[in-house]
Amino acid sequence: MEISKLNNNITPSGTMAISNKARILKEQGKPVIGFGAGEPDFPTPSHVIEEVKIASENPTYHKYTAVGGLPILRDEISRTTREYSNFEVNPDNVVVTNGGKQAILTTFMSLLDPGDEVLIPSPYWTTYPEAVKISGGQPVIVNTDFENDFKVTVEQLEEKFTEKTKVVVWVSPSNPTGVVYSKEEAEEIYNWAFDKNIWILSDELYEHLVYEGVTSPSPATIDKNLEKTIVVNGVAKAYSMTGWRVGWIMGNDDVIGISKKIQSHATSNVANISQVAAYSALKNGLGSTNEMKKAFDKRRNYALNLFNTLENIRVPNATGAFYVFPDVSHYTNGLIDGVSTSIELCDWLLEKFYIAFVPGEVFGKEGFLRCSYALSDRDLEEGLTRFKDALESI
Ligand SMILES: Cc1ncc(COP(=O)(O)O)c(C=O)c1O
Repeated sequence: MEISKLNNNITPSGTMAISNKARILKEQGKPVIGFGAGEPDFPTPSHVIEEVKIASENPTYHKYTAVGGLPILRDEISRTTREYSNFEVNPDNVVVTNGGKQAILTTFMSLLDPGDEVLIPSPYWTTYPEAVKISGGQPVIVNTDFENDFKVTVEQLEEKFTEKTKVVVWVSPSNPTGVVYSKEEAEEIYNWAFDKNIWILSDELYEHLVYEGVTSPSPATIDKNLEKTIVVNGVAKAYSMTGWRVGWIMGNDDVIGISKKIQSHATSNVANISQVAAYSALKNGLGSTNEMKKAFDKRRNYALNLFNTLENIRVPNATGAFYVFPDVSHYTNGLIDGVSTSIELCDWLLEKFYIAFVPGEVFGKEGFLRCSYALSDRDLEEGLTRFKDALESI
């Protein structure tokens, strides 16, 4: 019996492979330090937990919700969007989804017809191309340059633009590079996309995790009626709530209409009690986010300093999210026995030094590795010291 041809076309989430190897070594009692985490290492804020405890006793929250989400949560999303992101969105133009991931998949399903092309600047977060393929579209990878901190330019986008281009993916701060575009750089790209009459899917999951005062405005601050912009956001990263699975799509009536149709058949709604948790997080402001940010910023400086002191490593200036993305290509060309790719380098680092990084191939960029600094200060220092020792042992 045959299964879908999609099986040959999509790859499983690559960040999982290294985590599995690391888990097996840990179970064997090895002192593994993981730099692979895509989630904050802090607990969800205690006020969220308290509110959820009370709500869980209330049968109202044991039931289905409206497909688009609880009205109190959508109101709060609308309010915080106005306050933090500087654009207006009507609560009716919000669909609450099972995390940013489902928001992205639903958006592509809502926009794409077979053969439609989606521009994805590389290095990219691993889910984008796969979500495009699942939705019947064609991912078109747009390579960017280290020299420009991997920020895509209008010229690079223009080169890959065809009459089939329907969407451009936009993410600032970026996963995996941690790079943030300036206002001017961002607006140049937005205006290009608006002129071309294509959609911008703006992934704003890391909106609040920016350091050194840098931010890039959402395209929705220009495209005020969301005529050509779809914004995806959520509570996972900013409020340390990855496991609660709450994200959302913001778009115009057409986009929201079809997204709700899709969601009504896919999941009906996000777990009611998780929506209460997200409501509580938003309502209580950015106090806990800012505490986390302080800790992340200290670790970011530590990681960037360390990589910058290593002679054969270079690293883009990461001012957002909780990742840095060093160039390790000096070490993937035969210097180490059996190591000629960043996947093999990551295996070597894990097997010999018990430090786990995600290889650049997962993000479309051989010769690099992603280092998450969402781990304790002690582990960060110990793990990066091992990294330095490993390279010095060659
Ligand atoms: C850039 C980016 N967008 C979206 C997501 C999805 O987040 P979640 O589904 O946990 O809300 C992630 C998670 O790693 C991410 O890094």
